[in-house]
Amino acid sequence: MDPHVFVIFGASGDLTRRKLIPAIFQLYKNNSLPKDFALLGVSRTEFTDEAFREAVTTDNKHLKKKEGEEEQLKEFAKSLFYQPIDTNDPEDYAKVKDRLHEMDDKYNTRGNYIFYLSTPPSLYETIPEYLHRHDLNAKNGGWKRLVIEKPFGYDGKSARELNQILLQYFEEDQIYRIDHYLGKETVQNLLVTRFANGIFEPLWNRNYIQHVQITSAESIGVENRGGYYDESGALRDMVQNHLLQIVAHIGMEPPNTADAKAIRNEKLKLFQSIRLISEEEVPDYVVRGQYIAAEMDGKEVKGYREEKGVPEDSRTETYVGIKFFIDNWRWAGVPFYLRTGKRLPTKVTEVVVTFKSPPHRLFFNVNEIQSTPNQLVIRIQPQEGLALHFGMKVPGAGFHVKTVDMDFHYSDLTDAYVPEAYERLILDCMKGDPTLYAMGDSVEAAWKFIDPIINAWKNNPDITVHGYPSGTWGPAAAEDLIEGEEGWRNPCEE
Ligand code: BG6
Repeated sequence: MDPHVFVIFGASGDLTRRKLIPAIFQLYKNNSLPKDFALLGVSRTEFTDEAFREAVTTDNKHLKKKEGEEEQLKEFAKSLFYQPIDTNDPEDYAKVKDRLHEMDDKYNTRGNYIFYLSTPPSLYETIPEYLHRHDLNAKNGGWKRLVIEKPFGYDGKSARELNQILLQYFEEDQIYRIDHYLGKETVQNLLVTRFANGIFEPLWNRNYIQHVQITSAESIGVENRGGYYDESGALRDMVQNHLLQIVAHIGMEPPNTADAKAIRNEKLKLFQSIRLISEEEVPDYVVRGQYIAAEMDGKEVKGYREEKGVPEDSRTETYVGIKFFIDNWRWAGVPFYLRTGKRLPTKVTEVVVTFKSPPHRLFFNVNEIQSTPNQLVIRIQPQEGLALHFGMKVPGAGFHVKTVDMDFHYSDLTDAYVPEAYERLILDCMKGDPTLYAMGDSVEAAWKFIDPIINAWKNNPDITVHGYPSGTWGPAAAEDLIEGEEGWRNPCEE
């Protein structure tokens, strides 16, 4: 890997301490960082280098230090530096440039820089422009990469505008849009499951699959992020990015090669094939909800509207369930169901692929297998793994069929080291591999699907916001989205 300086804008913020420094320290411990490496934190707070090191490494419970790693952490901290600036003042970027040149001299980092924007999105337009003014975006004299965190825009229009602005200062191959779901091993494993095995792909289409469900549940509420969340809601916070990325992995065509361009192009095609739900159709295809106060695990929890930073009359959704179709040769007519919510009974993300029942009913006293068709359950988190449900004969007289599971747990690969999502993604960016990062056109395509839903909610106040008691699986109305008898598969009940 090339030597470089990793620059974090917004370095005094929560993400740096919680995710970025722990991920980079882990890379350091795994010997994955280049020998010539330095990290420069930049933000408004007046830290010295020493104070910054202290702030991000001391008592940081996210660092997962094992015994004996204290020394390693001290050694790692020596490569951390800090420059206070006013990010809104273009002149101040000269200070960043000077520091970077100092580091190039000291660490032989050769003008290779990653600029990681861990800042409010309002700065995504400012920082690239000011970096450009100081020639810090130039491809000559070392490579330059820009990493941005979601939200990539607030709707389709602002996402397009953001892309246009970024492209004025950086080229698309320099821009890394991070979606931490793509860094999850099990999300990547969706591609391996599908394309490294001969048995699934022939069945992976409208002829054999009855429907697909994707559930991403969280038991926590909005915590201390009420202000942000109320402007966002589940649709923008989870669906536009993380969950549509999972849909793309489930639905895309096999790429010709496993390189970044081929995979990202197939995903874009998939996004473009998702049938848009028109504003008029929203009430029939989308259910939104908001958690209300209830007892969860023996404790009384607040309702969403009582959370700090949330207006009493908020209509922001903390739950959304959607039924949609993918209009292409493979998926024509197969319903996809997707739901996500806060304050659901447990933290789980899984995909359930339900296969069609056998065409002829041979065993009449069967019951179970006819009503529980074959399902492939792909558990993204926690207890990552795969389970296949199928029918087996119960020993004894007659033909009694029972549904059994064939299970694989990731933890069975005992010696495999499973990196955290941020660790994996940051490493890829350092190597210049954008495969697991979102492309600008995919982001815009995903917004096309989201926009009409947001508009319908905005323009039609009669569309209900269903209250659901905290600790339940969301509004009862979401059950009606599913065609047929099976309903949603609720992970911790089965
Ligand atoms: C974030 C959302 O992107 O993803 C949060 O902003 C959500 O609201 C989180 O809690 C979920 O991520 P994970 O990895 O815990 O499933």
